[in-house]
Amino acid sequence: MQLTIEGKKEFIKEMLNRNLLVSEGLFNLTSQSPIHEKETRENVLNKTKKHNLLVVGEEIASALKTALPKSFDWPEFEKSKASFEKGKNIKTYERFRQYLAERQEHPAVKVLEEEDEEINNFKRRVGVRTIFSYDEAPVKRDAQQFTDHFTSRYKSIERILRTRKEMQGAISIARIHQKKDRERVAFIGMIKDKAITKNNNIILELEDTSGEIRTFITTGKQEIHGIAKEEALDSVIGVTGHTSNKVVFATDLVLPDIPQKELKKSPTEEYAAFISDLHVGSNNFLSEKFDKFLKWINGRVGSSSQKEIVNKIRYVFIMGDLVDGVGVYPGQEKELIIKGISQQYAECSKLLKEIPENIPLIICPGNHDATRISEPQLPPYKDFSLPLWKLPNAILTSNPSYINIGATSTFPGFDILMYHGYSFDYYIANTDSIRAQGGYDRADLIMRYLLKRRHLAPTHASTLYIPDARADHLVIDRIPDFFVTGHIHKASISNYRNTTLICGSCWQSTTGFQEKVGHHPEPGRVPVVNLKSRAIKVLKF
Ligand SMILES: [Fe+2]
Ligand SMILES: [Fe+2]
Repeated sequence: MQLTIEGKKEFIKEMLNRNLLVSEGLFNLTSQSPIHEKETRENVLNKTKKHNLLVVGEEIASALKTALPKSFDWPEFEKSKASFEKGKNIKTYERFRQYLAERQEHPAVKVLEEEDEEINNFKRRVGVRTIFSYDEAPVKRDAQQFTDHFTSRYKSIERILRTRKEMQGAISIARIHQKKDRERVAFIGMIKDKAITKNNNIILELEDTSGEIRTFITTGKQEIHGIAKEEALDSVIGVTGHTSNKVVFATDLVLPDIPQKELKKSPTEEYAAFISDLHVGSNNFLSEKFDKFLKWINGRVGSSSQKEIVNKIRYVFIMGDLVDGVGVYPGQEKELIIKGISQQYAECSKLLKEIPENIPLIICPGNHDATRISEPQLPPYKDFSLPLWKLPNAILTSNPSYINIGATSTFPGFDILMYHGYSFDYYIANTDSIRAQGGYDRADLIMRYLLKRRHLAPTHASTLYIPDARADHLVIDRIPDFFVTGHIHKASISNYRNTTLICGSCWQSTTGFQEKVGHHPEPGRVPVVNLKSRAIKVLKF
């Protein structure tokens, strides 16, 4: 039914209240236009603000009715329309229009969007809560956003460090420059540069929002010399020391680190299993091993004690690289048995469908998945991985993400930090102590290293990332009960200050590429945690 003049006025007023403008064309439409439907108007009101839109016209109104990926760039669409109206850059707008037209003919995706509520109900029923999953639409980035991103990181970690006893009197670097020689100072800085002198002393160039200062760590201070040697560029640390001729001689270095955590135990006996790096589609995907795992999780194989565990498995986490992807490394096509990414996800979903539906599958992507590679990585794009989204028990999150499981009215549940681990290669290559103690065989050491620095990839370029002006989402600002990763293809279990560190194994035999870069995969291992006792078993398939 055509909207009355009163109805139009009311709608425009509501939009203005939300700082939104309505374009003239929106109402000059026939009664078939979606804006005359109450449901569409409500949708427009709910979604326009979320998508950072300014002006709502007819295409936007009908596009909002269409199921679009969360990554759809609304502001860019709006900008392209403005350019189009000025007769400039017509092609971009046409491309958007064509895309929208195609999406409107795609009913399968639309159904899924409407099912979001169903997933939410399922999550409530099985005790899974998403604390953090990134779902911002990609926007154009400029240099200022990089600056703001690093300032935000500095401030987040500075806040952590300020709670430390040694940092109580910390002052800004600008104020240190005003101090006389031999004064005791404490400050917090981001490592801009690092150099080693002829005598093996270390010079850290540190900066905060007020300035920069050089800090000397002499070989005589053995303990902090060791820390400084291992320190990652762009990480944030606290320093105490004394001034001398515009530099600081450090007496102590303070890492943000995580405190000892209470070892939480679930009031009910339930288990969580952790798998990772399936690489479905690869010639090297170990289907027989994975079949064995599927049989086990269905209670069809295994010893009687294993079957007992199976009955109590309440959660399965999958830490990325579900499929092998396409074009991930040079010459990959020769190592693929399934050449198309959508077909890889179809096959992967067929396998995961065999996991009992009452067990939630909590899935984050990895660097082989069909999503942008920069972190935070959005969940796999629906366009390519629709069958995965259709699994009734799949809970898809970003990489990294924070998930809470098992909370009750009297128990806070466990916080799980999921991160695929793309930055690990860098820290293995660049941290002597990790390499000396086993490198690729010791995911636990890398995880510990990152927890101590409260960041999943402190050094610029140690992973690919999206600079977000408002927050650095790779800062570990919440201390997890479980820090779970993958990517290394070799399972490892450890405990650091009562945070359980789990790296999943893989379901792919060694590829030529892995051999070249020095990985030692150990496929078919599944860490299984008893959440009541916190005991962990690694099952072999
Ligand atoms: Fe992988
Ligand atoms: Fe990976």
